[in-house]
Amino acid sequence: MLLPMRKVKVPLGSRSYEIHIAGGLLAGIGKACARLSLGKRCAIVTDDQVAPLYAKKVEQSLQAAGFDTFTFVVPHGEPSKRLEMAQRGYDALAAHRLERGSFILALGGGVVGDLAGFLAATYLRGIAFVQVPTTLLAQVDSSVGGKVGINLKAGKNLVGAFHQPRAVFCDLDTLDTLSEREFRAGMAEVIKYGVIYDARLFARLERELPQLLRREAKPLGAVIARCCEIKAEVVGQDETESGLRAILNFGHTIGHAIEATAGYGKFLHGEAISIGQVAAAQLSVALTGLSPADAARIEDLLAKTGLPTQLKVDARRRQRMMDAMKLDKKSSGGEVKFVLAKKIGSVLFGQKVPADLIHQAISPK
Ligand SMILES: NC(=O)c1ccc[n+]([C@@H]2O[C@H](COP(=O)([O-])OP(=O)(O)OC[C@H]3O[C@@H](n4cnc5c(N)ncnc54)[C@H](O)[C@@H]3O)[C@@H](O)[C@H]2O)c1
Ligand SMILES: [Zn+2]
Repeated sequence: MLLPMRKVKVPLGSRSYEIHIAGGLLAGIGKACARLSLGKRCAIVTDDQVAPLYAKKVEQSLQAAGFDTFTFVVPHGEPSKRLEMAQRGYDALAAHRLERGSFILALGGGVVGDLAGFLAATYLRGIAFVQVPTTLLAQVDSSVGGKVGINLKAGKNLVGAFHQPRAVFCDLDTLDTLSEREFRAGMAEVIKYGVIYDARLFARLERELPQLLRREAKPLGAVIARCCEIKAEVVGQDETESGLRAILNFGHTIGHAIEATAGYGKFLHGEAISIGQVAAAQLSVALTGLSPADAARIEDLLAKTGLPTQLKVDARRRQRMMDAMKLDKKSSGGEVKFVLAKKIGSVLFGQKVPADLIHQAISPK
């Protein structure tokens, strides 16, 4: 079945770019890059799980289009987003004589995209980069919007930059090899877009969930494109998160606190923000007029997606989560602000929430 190529524009003046969404994009990546007036030399940054699946195809396509490529492979997983790995990356870029006109292509999930983008933002004070996201989370979220960075021991994403890619290529076929758990975790971000911005998208997700979970390319392509459109609209209005962009953090305040206190690897990001969205929905019922029926729809859709919706915590863990929220880099002056919903499709950011309500939402009876 031939599927339409969907294109979404991210409107950022002279730094505008397009997100391409379709099956079978990898084979044509060389030709597509050739249209971006990039330099001849290219570093492909990928991880050791994605490389055996897709690196050869990308290398061959780029080389056939006249690019001179080398591939830098990092171990898969969050620990690769650290300064030592960036250091190795810089050395590899220099050893392969990447110049101002050269570019970096990120092939992989959000870890690879954030690290590769960070290298591109800083090497020679910034070179071009192209995103080829291969996880659902990276296709709908991390590859779009230009946030790049690495982690410190003190916390995630504490060092980074805003560095927009020159283009994003979401090849739907790459999602076929993604594990069930990673795919469902990505769906938590998809559902988030419905809650924060688009009631019709939310209703579509309710209707088409079985097809989406089977990864049927047609509905999945349409849904990914809609999520990218929403992210593009939000980022287009607020590139550096001085306001509106905060709505993308619905479910993330408590979600990040869960991740920060659970120990590495216990929860995937999507699983943590699934629990965070249910908690934020509950707070929204108390504070911003979300109807209990809408809150139930949110919880129900996340549960049907196979995501966790609740966490049992004791008083100590709850306190550690409260501390983590205050330390979160998005809080200021120790005050924790939430994104809360008025109804499905419409949210408010910067909402103060009394501590006792947060307590209740973290560990509901
Ligand atoms: N920059 C942003 O705006 C932004 C937004 C959200 C998340 N992030 C970051 O993204 C990261 C998480 O990204 P992620 O969820 O994609 O995780 P990830 O990059 O770790 O990928 C998840 C796992 O899937 C594997 N994988 C990737 N593509 C595959 C494929 N097609 N087939 C089989 N396996 C595949 C990877 O090797 C990895 O083991 C976090 O570090 C987070 O901070 C950044
Ligand atoms: Zn997220």
